[in-house]
Amino acid sequence: MQTDLRGRDLVSLQGWSNEEIETVLEVAARLKLERALGQPHPLLRDKVLAMLFFFSSTRTRASFEAGMAQLGGHAQFIESRTTQIAHGDTAHEIGEILGRYNDGIAIRNVDWGVGNRYIRDVAAASRVPVLNMQCEVCHPFQVLADLLTIREKLGDPRGRTITVSWAYAASYQKPLSVPQDLALLATRFGMNVRLVHPPEFRLMPEIVDQATENARRSGGSLELLDDFEAGMRGSDVVYAKSWGALMTAKDDAEGAAIAGQYTDWITDERRMAMAADEALYMHPLPADRGIEVADAVIDGPHSVVYDEAENRLHVQKAVMALTMR
Ligand code: CP
Repeated sequence: MQTDLRGRDLVSLQGWSNEEIETVLEVAARLKLERALGQPHPLLRDKVLAMLFFFSSTRTRASFEAGMAQLGGHAQFIESRTTQIAHGDTAHEIGEILGRYNDGIAIRNVDWGVGNRYIRDVAAASRVPVLNMQCEVCHPFQVLADLLTIREKLGDPRGRTITVSWAYAASYQKPLSVPQDLALLATRFGMNVRLVHPPEFRLMPEIVDQATENARRSGGSLELLDDFEAGMRGSDVVYAKSWGALMTAKDDAEGAAIAGQYTDWITDERRMAMAADEALYMHPLPADRGIEVADAVIDGPHSVVYDEAENRLHVQKAVMALTMR
C-alpha cells in the first residue's frame, strides 16, 4: 500500500503506480462499507473543492458534490460559461486563484485538443491538487469505478477478457476518453482487452501504443478487431459504448454521417448471449437507449450499470480523502 498521496494531482492514471491505484481501491471499499453501516467519515472537514465544468454532467457533478459533503466538506459548482473564463481568465489564473480559495480543483473539459492541456496548465499553477473529471483523452474516475466494479463482481481481473467496443449512438459525438482510459487501465491490471470498432473510430495511436506496452508488462493483452460480434464471443465484460469519429472526421456532420453507416452496432440480447454466461454488461452512462444498447440488456441480468455509477462516489471520495488532507 502506498499512502503518500497528499497534494497529488490526478490528471492521468498513467502517472499513478499500480500500488497507488490499489490504495485508492482499498480506501474506496472501506468508505463504501462505512457508508453502508451509517458510519460518518468526516476526513475533509471544512475543506472545499472547486468543480469547474466546461461540459454537461449528471453523475460526475452529483457524485463529487455528495462525496465532499459526506467527507465533511463542501463542493462549489462552477460552470465555465457563467464565469469570466469566456472574457479572458487564463488557465494559469484559474489555478492560482481557485487554488487560494479551495483545497482541491476538479475540472471537466472535453474540448478536442484543449481539455487535457487546460487541466495540466491549471495544475501547474495550483497549490492544491487538481483532479481530472474528464478530458478528451482520459476519464480517470470513471475507469477507477469500472475497475472497482469488475473486482467486486469477478474478483481478480487478471486473465479476464474485456470487450471495449464502439456502439452506434445518435445523440452526439461522445469523447474517446472512456475507451482510451479503460484500455490503458485494464491492460495494466492483466486483462485481455479486445478493442473493437469500425475503422473510422480509431483511438489516439499513442494511447493504443501505451496500452500495448501496459499489456506487455502485466501479462495481459490488447487485440484490435473491427467485427462487433467477434468481439463479444466468450467475453467476461462487455463494455460497449459510442464515441465520435474524432480522429477521422473534420466536423460533427461528417462524424454523424460516418456513424450512420454502422447503426446496427447495438448491444442487444442476441449479441449479449454470445459473451460468457456470467458476463457483465457495463456502460458509463448516459446511453442512447434502443440505439446504443437495448433496454433488455441495460436493464437485464448482466447489467451492472447502477453499481458502476455508484462506485464513482466511492473512488472519488477515496482520491479526495487521500490527496486533499
Ligand atoms: N459517466 C459520466 O461521466 O457521467 P456524466 O457525464 O453524467 O458525469
